[in-house]
Amino acid sequence: MHNHKILYLVLVGIALITGFGAMTYPFTGSKTDLAPDENTPIGDVLKKLGKSNASELKTIEGASVEKGRDLVHKGYAIGPDGKRTKQQSKFYVCTTCHNVVKEFEDPSLISAEMRLDYAMKNKVPFLQASGFYGIVNRTSFYNDDYQVKYEGIDGIEAANKDLRAAIQFCSKTCSQGRELADWEIESILAYFWTLQFKMGDLKLNEAQKKQIDLAFSDGKDKESAAKILETKYAAAMPAHILKIPKFVAPDESEYKNTQKLKEGKAIYDQGCLHCHLNKKYSFFGLDNEYLTFKAMEKATRKENYILSMNFLVREGLPPRMGNHSYMPEFTAEKMSPEQLKNLYLYVSAQAKGKYKE
Ligand code: HEC
Ligand code: HEC
Repeated sequence: MHNHKILYLVLVGIALITGFGAMTYPFTGSKTDLAPDENTPIGDVLKKLGKSNASELKTIEGASVEKGRDLVHKGYAIGPDGKRTKQQSKFYVCTTCHNVVKEFEDPSLISAEMRLDYAMKNKVPFLQASGFYGIVNRTSFYNDDYQVKYEGIDGIEAANKDLRAAIQFCSKTCSQGRELADWEIESILAYFWTLQFKMGDLKLNEAQKKQIDLAFSDGKDKESAAKILETKYAAAMPAHILKIPKFVAPDESEYKNTQKLKEGKAIYDQGCLHCHLNKKYSFFGLDNEYLTFKAMEKATRKENYILSMNFLVREGLPPRMGNHSYMPEFTAEKMSPEQLKNLYLYVSAQAKGKYKE
């Protein structure tokens, strides 16, 4: 450990003497800074362009990226006292409902269609909650209908503008878990900072890249360069809760539409089965057996029936007596009405023996 430190100091020394210093990161503010490349996190670029970020990390004793990663993926970490924390939630881990990888080909185009398209091409789970990739680059959370759904619950308003408050709110409310300590929130936030958008994730054309490079190196018109960047990704995830749709049987011709069937299958495999296969994150199991498809097909034909997929997708399932696990709903942005129809199309094709690989 000690040796490493010395080696590091020597290297930094050499770098400074030989003029390499100008190339080191983070920025020195001099004119010789290199232009951002594909891997430069956009938070760093925006900072250089004069934009502050409310989720900027604070120094909190005991907080670290590794602990944040453990909390998000395993639900516990080793605390500052050297002891393992209590599990964050009895039922889930954060990745039950949130992805940590990219979810969109172009982060400025965030429709449910784009999300499913990317999920299918890249085998990403198709889940109810917004992803953590790029979340520190966003500026508001628990948007739109989530402010209504959770109205009156302590912390929901703060969660709208403050990522730390959103983490705390989710830990207690959406993931039915315990209150997080400050070092835990800061650790999760530190982990989120490693998941920033990179310049290469944004769809910038050559002229825009050039303008940003200039603002970056020469400080030229930083304001408009920052504005360009900010239009290239969604700063908030819109959220609209839809009513339970009336059941409408698909046209016979739709059973021949392989694209629709494929989409339905992806929603089932990468969405429903993510939590229900072998009862991974739920007490209820789903699988690829004929009888399972048959039961779900039948349930979905019943209006307002709690086991109908139309009901479950739009309302979710509230926590029941003595058991605080629940199923979050899919908002319009997380599953479109058309996608929900395709889910039924696929399940009913399986139930009717009409599905062929
Ligand atoms: C049972 C599902 C579930 C689990 C588990 C869960 N969340 Fe969430 N979370 C949600 C839902 C639903 C929302 C609603 C807003 C959204 O994501 O768009 C949400 C929202 C959030 C948001 C705000 C996102 C935004 O852009 O609006 C953050 C931050 C967050 N959760 C952090 C966490 C952390 C950290 C954990 C683990 C400690 C966690 N969540 C576990 C379901 C869950
Ligand atoms: C993020 C995890 C998650 C996802 C994704 C998910 N569910 Fe659930 N689901 C749950 C939980 C948790 C429950 C609550 C009861 C339990 O624990 O089994 C539940 C309940 C259910 C129930 C009712 C079971 C009962 O006990 O009455 C059905 C049916 C169901 N889900 C179907 C689906 C379908 C269909 C999809 C895909 C569109 C889906 N679920 C996606 C977590 C999930």
